[in-house]
Amino acid sequence: MKFCVIGLGEIGFVAAKYISDKGLDVWGYDISLAAVKRAKEAGITNAVSSWNDLPLADVYLICVYSGLKDEVPNLSPIFDVCEKIKRTIKSSDHPLVSIESTIVPGLCRKIFQDIFEDRVRLVHVPHRYWREKPTKHGVKQLRVIGGVNAESLQAGLKLYSDVLGIPLHIVSSIEVAEMSKIAENAYRYIQIAFAEELRMICEGVGLKFDEVRDACNTKWNIAILEARDGIGGHCLQKDAKYLASLTKFKSLIESALHIDEQYRKWLKHRS
Ligand SMILES: NC(=O)c1ccc[n+]([C@@H]2O[C@H](COP(=O)([O-])OP(=O)(O)OC[C@H]3O[C@@H](n4cnc5c(N)ncnc54)[C@H](O)[C@@H]3O)[C@@H](O)[C@H]2O)c1
Repeated sequence: MKFCVIGLGEIGFVAAKYISDKGLDVWGYDISLAAVKRAKEAGITNAVSSWNDLPLADVYLICVYSGLKDEVPNLSPIFDVCEKIKRTIKSSDHPLVSIESTIVPGLCRKIFQDIFEDRVRLVHVPHRYWREKPTKHGVKQLRVIGGVNAESLQAGLKLYSDVLGIPLHIVSSIEVAEMSKIAENAYRYIQIAFAEELRMICEGVGLKFDEVRDACNTKWNIAILEARDGIGGHCLQKDAKYLASLTKFKSLIESALHIDEQYRKWLKHRS
C-alpha cells in the first residue's frame, strides 16, 4: 500500500512520520521546499516538491493549509491538491482520499461530486493534534471519521483502524465530521473567552480571578478555564470564524472574538 501525504506542515509532517515509522511506504508532497527538506531530514526520504515526481498512490492524506482570506474560509489549497489527484488517477483507479485539514461542512461532498466525479473513496478524519503533547494528542488519539458514502467509510475504517491503529469515533455522515472539528475548536475558544471576561470583571471589582475560579470549580459541573495571555495558536480563532461563516447565528462567537481582543488590550494597560 502506497501512501501520499500532501502538505508537510505541522500535521502533514507528523502524519507522514507516523506512517513511515510503521514501516509503510510513504511519499510526501509540499509546495514549500523548506517543508520537504525537513521531512527528508526526518527520514521521509520520498518527500518531493514537484507533483510529477510522485507515484500513483493507494491512499492520499490531505494535510494542506486551510486558512482565512478577508475573514472568510480560504480552502483553495484543498481544491488545488484535489484537482492534482484527479488529473493523476486513471479511470480504473479507486484510491482512498482522506481530508485531514480543517474545512467547512459540505466541502467534501462538493469535492467528491464536482472534482472527483465519484471516482475515489473519500473520508474526512480531522486532526486533533496538539504540539504541547504530541504523543498523547498526536496522530494516534481518538479521532472522528465520516465518509461520503458507505464504501468510503469502510475503506477509511480499514485504513485508520486496522492499518494505522488509530481509534475512531464514527459519525453517520461526512458533514457531521466536518462540523464536529470546527465546533469543538469554537467551543474551546468561547470557554477561554468566558474566563478572560470573568477575569476582567473580577479584577474590576477588586477580586482575585484565580481564587474565584478555584471556588467555582469545586462545583461538580463547573470547569472554568485559565485566562492567560490571550487565546493562542491560530486554529481556535480560525475555526471559530469558520463556524461563524456558516449562517447568521454567530452572536456568541462574535462576542468571544471581541472579548479576546478586549482582553489583550486590557492586559497591556492594566499594569
Ligand atoms: N497544527 C495543528 O496543531 C493543527 C491541529 C488540528 C488541525 N489542523 C489543521 O490542519 C491543517 C494544516 O495545518 P498545519 O498546522 O499543518 O499548517 P502548516 O501551515 O504548518 O502546513 C500547511 C502546509 O501546507 C502546504 N501547502 C499549502 N498549500 C499547498 C498546496 N496547494 N499544495 C501543497 N502543499 C500546500 C504549506 O506549504 C505548508 O507546508 C489546517 O487545516 C489546520 O487547521 C492543524
